[in-house]
Amino acid sequence: GDPQVPAQRTFDLVIAANRLPVDAVTGADGKITWRRSPGGLVTAMESVMHGREGAWVGWAGEPGKAPRAFTQNSMHLRPVRLDQDDVVDYYEGQSNDCLWPIYHDAIVPAKFRRRWRTAYERVNTRFAEQVAKVAAPGATVWVHDYQLQLVPALLRKLRSDVRIGWFNHIPFPPVELFMQMPGREGILEGLLGADFLGFQRKPDAANFLRACRGLLDVTVRGDVVHLPDGRSVRASAVPISVDYNGLRELAGDPAVQQRAAEIREQLGDPKHILLGVDRLDYTKGLRHRLKAYGELLQSGDLDPSETVFVQVATPSRERLAAYRELRGQVELEVGRINGEHSPIGSTALTYLHRSFPRTEMVALFAAADVLIVTPLRDGMNLVAKEYVACHADDGAIVLSEFTGAADELSRAYLCNPHDIDKLKQTILQAMHDPPGEHRRRMRSMRRTVMTNDVQHWAEDFLTNLQAAPHKPKGHR
Ligand code: ADP
Ligand code: G6P
Repeated sequence: GDPQVPAQRTFDLVIAANRLPVDAVTGADGKITWRRSPGGLVTAMESVMHGREGAWVGWAGEPGKAPRAFTQNSMHLRPVRLDQDDVVDYYEGQSNDCLWPIYHDAIVPAKFRRRWRTAYERVNTRFAEQVAKVAAPGATVWVHDYQLQLVPALLRKLRSDVRIGWFNHIPFPPVELFMQMPGREGILEGLLGADFLGFQRKPDAANFLRACRGLLDVTVRGDVVHLPDGRSVRASAVPISVDYNGLRELAGDPAVQQRAAEIREQLGDPKHILLGVDRLDYTKGLRHRLKAYGELLQSGDLDPSETVFVQVATPSRERLAAYRELRGQVELEVGRINGEHSPIGSTALTYLHRSFPRTEMVALFAAADVLIVTPLRDGMNLVAKEYVACHADDGAIVLSEFTGAADELSRAYLCNPHDIDKLKQTILQAMHDPPGEHRRRMRSMRRTVMTNDVQHWAEDFLTNLQAAPHKPKGHR
């Protein structure tokens, strides 16, 4: 049993994210078990909080009454209640059917509903109130992602003593797209309640600054927004990363190595293993990838007795129509490719629609010859950096130019996933380049990920936050 945190206990570091690092699963007997939550935010922040004292305020993943607060490792988890209509209107609606598509280049059309916005304000207020309760005097509060953009200003009203930082794990859209959103000024004002705003890439920060300049009565100089009340807020790029040392250690573990060898064997010891690992999300370019692979098999450029493709597609946001449709399309295409090309007794494309333990993921990364990452838009893409950490000198990455990771991993085989012919050529090149070329590229990428790991990211963010002026100019 986990020790209970007394309700009045407060913390110097408070994380606020829509999800807790673990999801509650209530069994038929009413007993709760916990499993790791999906997505890159949790992967990164779990590593960051490892060994740090702090509270994490977030939703436990099920509608209804929130489970009691509890301690996990050194972290104090404070579940926030989301009722069924909050889940539908704030989480599925405003967050994932409006903000998510707008912030990802409107790959699917965004929907706008007034009820969703009301729910978004309601739930953001609840988060701000919970944070206000657990934050110690002068605490550092780190708010995460697009679901909680109003929290900084709401929290500042409740607790002017705390230092507030916000980090956006996803892209920030060009102002022409951002402008479509009803209540767009409210979002900017919500964010400007923070002392420091972190983005994945410089263009994301620039988009935010441009939106402020265009839509608010503020002055923007360099990367600083100057507000009428004398406060100023800096917005800059702090690209997120992975736990390089932890992954390296896992990948070097003999049991994991053994498992990687076993995976290769189970796949029939093919000459080439191609791997994709993504949440089943329309931003990830899964259909483009399958199209390219299917055509390469069709043309005979790839021989299914020599090459296998493993696609891990984590279930995600399954009640939303766009996600259900995507799943249908992907599964149809997987069936078609296997039906047309799989040899008897093996599969050209192994499709895994479920979650795996960390060690199994690392073994898969280690086993794969080429990682294929083809998002149409992605804030960073941690999977690409994880693959780098799991390989010594071998392996290769085909990487979409539309990911944040492409900025840093410039030695990957970069591609435009919309250009299917080029994508096919790039996959073949990544497969057939000589080992020396793979080594040079992987070494260069490894240096990047090693020096800019997730701890480096967190320290960078927190240093920026501490350096922020906090009080208006002239105040003490
Ligand atoms: P996103 O945050 O959009 O899901 P990222 O690539 O940044 O994309 O992060 C995904 C994270 O989830 C990575 O840490 C990856 O290893 C992990 N992951 C993805 N699929 C699975 C899966 N099926 N089982 C376990 N972990 C997964
Ligand atoms: C991305 C987002 C996270 C989100 C995750 C999983 O990584 O940036 O905020 O938690 O996807 O999505 P979900 O909707 O299941 O929380």
